[in-house]
Order: sequence, then structure tokens, then C-alpha cells
Amino acid sequence: MRYLILSDIHANWEALQAVLRDAQGDYDEILCCGDLVGYGADPNLVVDWARQRAKLVVRGNHDKACTGLDDLEWFNPVARSAATWTIASLTPDNLSYLRDLPKGPVVLDSFQILHGSPLDEDDYLVSNFAVTQIVPYLERQVSFFGHTHIQGGFLCRGDEVLRLAKPEGEESRKAFEIERDVLYLINPGSVGQPRDRDPRASYLIYAPDERRVEFRRVPYDVPAAQAKIRDAGLSALLADRLEIGG
Ligand SMILES: [Fe+2]
Repeated sequence: MRYLILSDIHANWEALQAVLRDAQGDYDEILCCGDLVGYGADPNLVVDWARQRAKLVVRGNHDKACTGLDDLEWFNPVARSAATWTIASLTPDNLSYLRDLPKGPVVLDSFQILHGSPLDEDDYLVSNFAVTQIVPYLERQVSFFGHTHIQGGFLCRGDEVLRLAKPEGEESRKAFEIERDVLYLINPGSVGQPRDRDPRASYLIYAPDERRVEFRRVPYDVPAAQAKIRDAGLSALLADRLEIGG
């Protein structure tokens, strides 16, 4: 079994299409660590696709906010206005699908997927200290998470926390092997709004039987996604940040 693991698509149809083309033939099932919507201009296309193709999507904080399960006061003004626009744009069926998404972590055999941290989908796992705090709550050796929009993640070997390397510069793929007796918190990065100073869409392929993870980056039609955001009347900041990956 090989999994295509995505996160933080954020209604960016162009980025999602590029990822699916790039990954074609390399996976059996699709999993998503949350945030299908918010920020981007194609929430219905992305949710329609997820309903048909994804085996499992855990709820992200933007998915929750767009379904009335959370108030929007914790969002910054740009995120809040995008959420308001998204709520008004989604079809009733797609709103209902988002409302029913399971809250992570969700365990699948030998691994689990979640959005922010095992304790709270709104927590950001960005520091080694944050990782040491949540290690006792991990239910599997391997966890996939999102929310930070930063590809990579962490491995915990005893008391040591190390960062996982992602493709840099001209590289588009970087693989590593899952070692025994090591805990992994792995972030596929964001499909639709990367924030690690690399504007290419992010994802990963996981082959549990081979104990292998491959981080991948793929360029996509950023100007087309930006034009849709501007045409929709969403904040120009949301379009601008796509070209810098920040
Ligand atoms: Fe997100």
C-alpha cells in the first residue's frame, strides 16, 4: 500500500491538480491532514474532489471555522474575511461534508493523521520543545500532521529531537527510511499555500510496507490561482504570498 498524503490544500485547485499529475501512478489511496478550504478561490472544486477521491480527511481549523463549529474571532482579519467568503460560497452538501469531518488524530493501522497537534487542531508544532511536550500523547510510531504549512517535521530518538530534511533548491524529491524505535512527526507541507519560502506545492508519498517516506515539491500555475483569488474579491495578500511561499 502506498499513500498520497496531503495537507492544507486551502481551496487552491491549480496546486492540487499539479500534485495529482506529479503523483500519478505512485499511490493507492489519498489521505489529507486537514484544511481543504480557506484562503483560496475554489472551495467547491476541492471539496467535491475530496468527497470523491480521498479515503480520509481529518478536520483542519479552517474547515471547522467554515462550518460554524468555531467562531471566527481567533482568526486574523485576512483569514476571517476569507472564511466568511468561503462559507457564503460553499454548497450546502459541501458545508455538510466539512461539518462531518472527523477531528484528528485518526489512527490507521500503523500510523495516525492529525491537523495541528494530538491535543488541539489549532496548535502549531514548530519547535523541538513543542514536540517534546506532545510525545506522550502519540498513539503510533508515525504521525502525519499539517497546519504549519512547513514541509518536514521531526524525529524523536530517545530524548533527542531532530528535524526531517525536505527537498531544497533544485531538488524536487527527498526520501528517508522509517527507523525502528524512533518516533516520527511528519508534515507533508501545504499543497495550496506553502509557507517555507518555497512556492512549489508540497506533498509526500508514504509506503508503510517499505518503511519509506518521500517528500515532494512540484511547481504549479501560481498566476492562475492568484487571478482567481483577486477576481473573487479576496484579500490581495492571499494572492501575493503564493509566489513567495511565505
Ligand atoms: Fe492551514
